[in-house]
Amino acid sequence: MTDFTPKREDKFSFGLWTVGWLGRDPFGEATRSPLDPVEAVHRLSDLGAHGITFHDDDLVPFGSSAEERSAVVSRFRGALDQTGLAVPMVTTNLFSHPVFKDGGFTANDRDVRRFALRKVLRNVELAAELGARTFVAWGGREGAESGAAKDVRAALDRYREAVDTVCAFIKERGYDLRLALEPKPNEPRGDILLPTVGHALAFINELEHGDIVGVNPEVGHEQMAGLNFAHGIAQALWAGKLFHIDLNGQNGIKYDQDLRFGAGDVRNAFFLVDLLENGGYEGPRHFDFKPPRTEDYDGVWASAAGCMRNYLILKERAAAFRADPQVVEAWEAARVGELSTPTLGAGESVSDLLSEELDVDAAAARGMHFERLDQLAMDHLLGVR
Ligand code: GCO
Ligand code: MN
Ligand code: MN
Repeated sequence: MTDFTPKREDKFSFGLWTVGWLGRDPFGEATRSPLDPVEAVHRLSDLGAHGITFHDDDLVPFGSSAEERSAVVSRFRGALDQTGLAVPMVTTNLFSHPVFKDGGFTANDRDVRRFALRKVLRNVELAAELGARTFVAWGGREGAESGAAKDVRAALDRYREAVDTVCAFIKERGYDLRLALEPKPNEPRGDILLPTVGHALAFINELEHGDIVGVNPEVGHEQMAGLNFAHGIAQALWAGKLFHIDLNGQNGIKYDQDLRFGAGDVRNAFFLVDLLENGGYEGPRHFDFKPPRTEDYDGVWASAAGCMRNYLILKERAAAFRADPQVVEAWEAARVGELSTPTLGAGESVSDLLSEELDVDAAAARGMHFERLDQLAMDHLLGVR
């Protein structure tokens, strides 16, 4: 057992907007005062994080001049150099300013779409300048409240046009950068386009430059739609498209809670960590959470530390689960490994298959022994084994 102290090689990263969230919600004002991005860099570094991420506007306020932008960026870069913290990902804000009230890439208003694209292209330059490898695009305002006002098929054409334009720019400039689309079913729009991992994966297949486009799924967003997050992640991995991930906590189908990782559906968190650690994902373990507005800054840093601690605890629990001889035996009994054997044998024809008989009564009578295996997982998760 370790002491669960985060290390750089754990690849934990945090959005500047997460620890920097002031606690403003639709019903109440800010409960915390603004956090200096330079302080965020130092604090996260002290806590053992590996990276910090941001939206363009989190770092460089909307409407800043070129001089203001370069002063802010060089001060921030100074803190990165001093601490060794990386910027693995940069994302874009096409949702806060009122000009984006009907979206950025898919606004009905063409001028707004052109403005949104310019904003993103400039932000891509900043991402490349800071050495980011992933550029996240969360289209929180790309959607609608009313059925009549949005031609969804045209909106998807424009979404595709925008994403392909950004990717062509990345390739033309030779940046070592990939795009990751972040699905969310609703909030702030009544219904958001690309609402789930599955929708985003299908969209990527329609792109000209889909080779550099993947997904950045967020725990709570799939769970807001009642979906099994670990299953969505497995499908993204299976498609070779898990470019990045937003870890947090959510309790069921309700507003986007953005709780610290591990709060919320802890069973799904356990199977998720097991999958990330054993399924070939090598990217950052990025936390996109909101320290509740009840907290002062001591609480904010405790909440950030809790995200990493919970990940490390679950990682240790998942490893213990896999190493347990009783689990190995229960896996055999549940025939989990058998699913990896192709249904047709090598060189076998359909007529071979058609000529075979199964004793269906005997097969139907076989127990699957899943409950024992699942209870072993619970025992490990709850720390009693
Ligand atoms: C949310 C979203 C955002 C995005 C972020 C990245 O909680 O609704 O996750 O926080 O992740 O804007 O672009
Ligand atoms: Mn969220
Ligand atoms: Mn997110």
